[in-house]
Amino acid sequence: MKLLITGGAGFIGSHVVRRFVINYPNYQIYNLDALTYAGNLENIKDVESRPNYKFIKGDITDFNFIDTLFSREQFDGVIHLAAESHVDRSIKDPLSFVKTNVIGTMNLLNSAKDIWKNNFNGKKFYHISTDEVYGSLGDKGLFTEETPYEPNSPYSASKASSDHFVRAYGETYDLPYVITNCSNNYGPNHFPEKLIPLFINNIINNKALPVYGDGNYTRDWLFVLDHARAIDLVFHKGRNSQTYNIGGFNEWKNIDLVKLLCKLMDEKLDRKPGTSEKLITYVRDRPGHDLRYAIDASKINKELGWEPSVNFEEGLIKTINWYFDNKDWLRNVTTGSYQEYYSNQYES
Ligand code: NAD
Ligand code: TYD
Repeated sequence: MKLLITGGAGFIGSHVVRRFVINYPNYQIYNLDALTYAGNLENIKDVESRPNYKFIKGDITDFNFIDTLFSREQFDGVIHLAAESHVDRSIKDPLSFVKTNVIGTMNLLNSAKDIWKNNFNGKKFYHISTDEVYGSLGDKGLFTEETPYEPNSPYSASKASSDHFVRAYGETYDLPYVITNCSNNYGPNHFPEKLIPLFINNIINNKALPVYGDGNYTRDWLFVLDHARAIDLVFHKGRNSQTYNIGGFNEWKNIDLVKLLCKLMDEKLDRKPGTSEKLITYVRDRPGHDLRYAIDASKINKELGWEPSVNFEEGLIKTINWYFDNKDWLRNVTTGSYQEYYSNQYES
């Protein structure tokens, strides 16, 4: 099996690459990543010398490069995670999300179709997507695989568009595919522009914790290793032409989550209880902010036996400990262009 994993230097992708390289020594794993601000080879340095692993630096938006790569390597499977992934950045620069998430996915689809078209047997194009394509829930209800798409941010619209193209390639050209739509992940190696790692970093540095709006927005949080395990299962056992929702059965209002994080950080830093909470600052809301996401993951549970294994408090403590044990990583990713992003987003 020659398996291409895209975006393997990013947050989720690095955990997926590690899992596949270690668990499947007979597979040749190719990690294709452009190393944007979100990609970092440090995330997977522990597996880089394994004989079944190869890193390829390249951009999925470059059609000629992708086409040549597929013709040369003749991959048997693709797990596609490379994407622009941050909602706030998509509000400032929507076109770059169209370029990477839509055009980039199209390039991969075209190349996979072209090399597989004479024999689709045993081939699979696995597209990793998000629950954000479904839009926003009110106080009640859950996203199922039948929930209509209603994306509200440029990020989710670009992911929805790529999901549709994957499905269309299945319908039109018989491309064997599977899609998963997962809820918010958290855990080690998460880039500190997203809520949990940003707030861990700010608490360490005694900086304000910018809570958008009134903080009464709800997300369903899943530990990233549980997501990687689900991806492994779906890749090997998921039915073709299906979508599976993946979630944590773990809904938190942002403000409650932030208060729990503050408590755990006070304990870790030996600070007086209540110290970190004083950093909470309510700031201007995100435009088009989705009120609530919550996943019904019963299909993947019934068909493949998957369920989350890490309880939230335990996962948060593991995550906090990782950031404390990897201060160099945190320092390296929060210098340079990160500073510019941060001041544009929060200090203007
Ligand atoms: P990330 O931003 O941490 O990593 C994205 C990776 O893709 C980076 O390594 C980056 O260098 C690479 N990349 C970006 N543009 C590229 C390009 N043009 N060519 C090649 N590589 C490129 O993202 P993540 O949080 O790990 O998310 C991975 C995937 O999972 C995305 O498709 C995202 O939509 C999806 N997802 C994320 C979450 C979440 O909570 N983070 C939840 C559900 C689904
Ligand atoms: P985020 O981690 O950006 O994930 P997503 O937008 O994909 O769900 O944000 C999670 C929630 O936290 C979301 O409701 C927005 C909110 N949020 C803040 O309140 N402040 C922040 O600085 C950030 C980055 C997010």
